[in-house]
Amino acid sequence: MLDTNATAIIELPVVEQPVEGVTAEPVRRTTGRALYVETYGCQMNLNDTEIVQGIMARQGYRLADSIEDADVVLLNTCAIRENAERKIHERLKHLRYWRKRKPDMVVGVLGCMAERLRKSLLGEQGLVDIVVGPDEYRRLPELVERAFVGEQGIAVKLSRVETYDDITPVRTRGISAWISIMRGCDKFCTFCVVPFTRGRERSRPLDSIVREAEQLWEQGFREATLLGQNVNSYRDPNGRGDFADLLAAVARAVPQMRIRYTTSHPYDMSDKLIETMAEYPNICPYIHLPVQSGSDRILQLMNRHYTVAQYLDRIAKIRATIPRCALSTDIIVGFCTETEDDHRQTLELMHTVRYDGAYMFKYSPRENTKAWKMGDDVPDEVKSRRLEEIIALQNRISWEINQTEIGKTFEVLVEGPSKRDPSQWQGRTDTNKVVIFPHIGTEASYVVGDTIRVRIESATSATLHGSVVA
Ligand code: SAH
Ligand code: SF4
Ligand code: F3S
Repeated sequence: MLDTNATAIIELPVVEQPVEGVTAEPVRRTTGRALYVETYGCQMNLNDTEIVQGIMARQGYRLADSIEDADVVLLNTCAIRENAERKIHERLKHLRYWRKRKPDMVVGVLGCMAERLRKSLLGEQGLVDIVVGPDEYRRLPELVERAFVGEQGIAVKLSRVETYDDITPVRTRGISAWISIMRGCDKFCTFCVVPFTRGRERSRPLDSIVREAEQLWEQGFREATLLGQNVNSYRDPNGRGDFADLLAAVARAVPQMRIRYTTSHPYDMSDKLIETMAEYPNICPYIHLPVQSGSDRILQLMNRHYTVAQYLDRIAKIRATIPRCALSTDIIVGFCTETEDDHRQTLELMHTVRYDGAYMFKYSPRENTKAWKMGDDVPDEVKSRRLEEIIALQNRISWEINQTEIGKTFEVLVEGPSKRDPSQWQGRTDTNKVVIFPHIGTEASYVVGDTIRVRIESATSATLHGSVVA
């Protein structure tokens, strides 16, 4: 809509404190305008989208079901790998079509890519009106208003204090809710862009997190996932304890609610946390514990702060304390200087741990990170082959583990019709496995949000299939 060269770009001043007054009685301008937000990236971004919807709802915006019905379209973006960014550039190209049909529509780029690419996004395809980083969402209403009168805007300052603690996220679907407990990351793994796009680590007060969990239960949510890039670093700003204390407080406050969390860093996976998980039956026995590599040399280059032996010690403690605990991980192949021997050690670690699942990636160099300067010397075909090898191994292990579930009966939280086949419904075990079961129409005695018992009859590497038992 606007030419960057012709329009002044608004650079808003640094705000280190949450804006006073926004927390007071909100000014509700009934704009009647409709907002459509598309979300990419991790759960943190999903929750941020709900926060953005909360901020815009205070100004009278309603949610549109599609771009066609929207006056404002926001893309909440991810910058973790080059592919993630490529997707957004493609999406922006596609939005050109809508721009022609709806010249007054405001388009904004939010999230990690906004933080990383900043002003350069305003020029993109001539259709980005506003660029807003993860700590500046309170300014969205103002920036959108100005965009409607033709001004481009950018707000990408990172904050040391913003947690959006007072904003009520607008959650649109389901029985599972995300609760953001902290923002940012101070770990500085050498490959990772997150400390640059999300800024310094900061935690929300324990009391307000517990209150949010209680409200969610009252609203009908049956599962809550506590979110942070590295939840084990959580510290209540009022001195009421660490992540294990928070987890216990939430578990006690909503004893019928399933409590999960993600992500934990192996370096900070304390005995206290593992023991707390074992103590409360409503804390789900499932841990996502990203390892990244099975080679000590690579782990050191990645600045991960643990060795394979230390990682395996944590796994042993988890298995001894919570025998049913399911485990998943993240693995990167082809990090700079990774040799065939390093790769073999990763495969060996996967054999040793036998994860229930894994998210696996080819290393993608990110500008400004330490690893960017180390080079990217593993050829793409080698990365692809190593990735195929770890995926094949993980699929086999997941399949084998899932075969051992056949014949067992699980408590399953009912989520609703399965996407592939609506005559089947789906739910999840507390170990985070998807269970598919036939839905017997109006005779079914359960509804979404109920916990039912399902006996497993068959399994693939990704899914369990079974029948409801009384
Ligand atoms: N905070 C989490 C993960 C955040 S990003 C943690 O510390 O585990 C999710 C995953 O993306 C990472 O665990 C890592 O496996 C992967 N990842 C991050 N940066 C990457 C990069 N530059 N190239 C490839 N994968 C990357
Ligand atoms: Fe990135 Fe490491 Fe922080 Fe995870 S812990 S977000 S991988 S820097
Ligand atoms: Fe992506 Fe930002 Fe999450 S880079 S993975 S959306 S924290």
